[in-house]
Amino acid sequence: MTEKAKSFTQYLAEQTSRVETHLAASVWPKGWDLHPKLKDAMTYSLLAGGKRMRPVLTLAAAEALGGNVEAAMPVACAVELVHTYSLVHDDLPAMDNDDYRRGRLTNHKVFGEAMAILAGDGLLTHAFHLITEAGKLGAPADVCLSIVEDLSRLAGPLGMVGGQAADMEGEQGVTDVEGLQAIHTHKTGDLIVFSLLAGGRIAGATERQLEALKTFGYSIGLAFQIQDDILDLTGDEGKLGKPVKSDERQHKVTYPYLLGLEASRERVTELTERAIRAVSEAGFSQPDRLIELAQYLMNRDH
Ligand code: IPE
Ligand code: IPE
Ligand code: MG
Ligand code: MG
Ligand code: MG
Repeated sequence: MTEKAKSFTQYLAEQTSRVETHLAASVWPKGWDLHPKLKDAMTYSLLAGGKRMRPVLTLAAAEALGGNVEAAMPVACAVELVHTYSLVHDDLPAMDNDDYRRGRLTNHKVFGEAMAILAGDGLLTHAFHLITEAGKLGAPADVCLSIVEDLSRLAGPLGMVGGQAADMEGEQGVTDVEGLQAIHTHKTGDLIVFSLLAGGRIAGATERQLEALKTFGYSIGLAFQIQDDILDLTGDEGKLGKPVKSDERQHKVTYPYLLGLEASRERVTELTERAIRAVSEAGFSQPDRLIELAQYLMNRDH
């Protein structure tokens, strides 16, 4: 392993562990008397592991612009709450009907469908509370407001939820790559873009820098979902922590289904290169971690 690769491995482990610690210790305000089963259900999925890529991207975007990484942490965790809720709902029998996630039984298998739906609802709503925490740590009020606006657009009906709706219908309808790209862009790309914009906003990014983060995010976001589709066919269940061949079972139209595996892999490489160009040319003070994260995601096996 080269020196640079070693230090990235260490960086990633440290950032992931900082996020894990914050998620475990600081997401619920002291004194909040939550419904015990609801809290168990939310915690079960939230603390089940997971790569924590989105919060790490938030922190890396703040760092790339020399920003206040402390104030970025609650927002980074907010993204992970939204992402976790999306997974809990995505696995429900009415959606992808999967039994395993993050190496354990899916939420509804343990807590029942009603509690899994409510756990998702609770995680989503609490994400907005966490954004207010960033304000208490020094993020200006107008920045917090922009972050709330971004989240409601990018995770909501115009963004991730809209993408998931199209994905549910796409089972039969989508026949071309453009249509599939639109689904992937919303169901996965939008939340990844949010993660980056949030870090950028906390660091006081200019409009031009936010645009570069957006291009970076949509490129790695699409690459991320294509890679997820590839791993659904070729991956190892033990490493993934979720079932393979779920897409086939649910008759999903995916990149490998439309283009084949080789062309899908090439698409992942091209999109990653585009992402790297976007942040390399944007004049960020420290773009290296974002670039390394893009490369890491391109080569991931889980
Ligand atoms: C899975 O996301 C859902 C997709 C958008 C493809 P991740 O692959 O980031 O899942 P975790 O968070 O590591 O479990
Ligand atoms: C899910 O895509 C995207 C979400 C918004 C949750 P998938 O349905 O392919 O994700 P996995 O494979 O179940 O993680
Ligand atoms: Mg799905
Ligand atoms: Mg799924
Ligand atoms: Mg998948």
